[in-house]
Amino acid sequence: MARIVTIVNQKGGVGKTTTAVNLAACLGVLEKKVLLVDMDPQGNATSMSSITATDYRTIYDMMGDDTLAAVYDTELPYLKVIPGNPDLTGAEIELLDVEKREFVLRDLLKRVSRHFDLIIIDSPPSLNILTVNNMAAADGLIIPIQCEYFALEGVSRIVATIERIRKINPKLAIDGILLTMYDKRVKLTFDVEQEVRKHFGKTVFQNVIARNVKLSESPSFGKPIILYDISSIGAKQYLALAEEYLERIG
Ligand SMILES: Nc1ncnc2c1ncn2[C@@H]1O[C@H](COP(=O)(O)OP(=O)(O)O)[C@@H](O)[C@H]1O
Ligand SMILES: [Mg+2]
Repeated sequence: MARIVTIVNQKGGVGKTTTAVNLAACLGVLEKKVLLVDMDPQGNATSMSSITATDYRTIYDMMGDDTLAAVYDTELPYLKVIPGNPDLTGAEIELLDVEKREFVLRDLLKRVSRHFDLIIIDSPPSLNILTVNNMAAADGLIIPIQCEYFALEGVSRIVATIERIRKINPKLAIDGILLTMYDKRVKLTFDVEQEVRKHFGKTVFQNVIARNVKLSESPSFGKPIILYDISSIGAKQYLALAEEYLERIG
């Protein structure tokens, strides 16, 4: 069975989607069979994943069709995608009427997980029922945090949520905290890093992701960074993160 990893932080703009897509792509380059699942109604992970289909069904469609496995190829042979799109906004409401509504995604992934080593889920910037599903389905979480004021406060809120989710998903681990938008010329980056590392110790990945313009350009080309500019700092750092992650989970 695949290890299911959810990228989560209730804040927007901290690098969740960038991390979901690029970590997934880099793990694929390291020849892990990876499935990226886009659970954000914005569908940004889908459009950044170099998906080759032009017309596709989504994770939302899988909720309404017991036999559908909406798994699509990308330009990377080891990376597949289950797309998401704004239909997911409807799921937020529809799921409220479903029995075992926290476990809808977990049960959907059982249809496909035997084909993969890792399943990476991108989350919306909120703690709604979709995010609860993403965490209830997961073996582990990766929490990207932006090196800025109140970063630690945001993480404390996620940690409190994780404690609550563990009541329904006791195996849920924090696979790692990732420092994003890292800029070592800025003193605030240094201060936040010190504080986060002091507080969370080895849970924080050694590798950080610097602010890198290539990372912000690649989405408009619909590609992960390694297909857009393999020699960029962003590509090197996400590859190093993928290696560190594989070592960490053994
Ligand atoms: N390391 C980085 N360097 C530069 N820009 C980045 C970096 N990480 C993310 N971005 C950009 O910042 C914005 C927010 O990132 P995103 O991954 O979409 O965050 P989230 O999914 O948490 O809302 C996007 O425009 C993205 O391209
Ligand atoms: Mg996002």
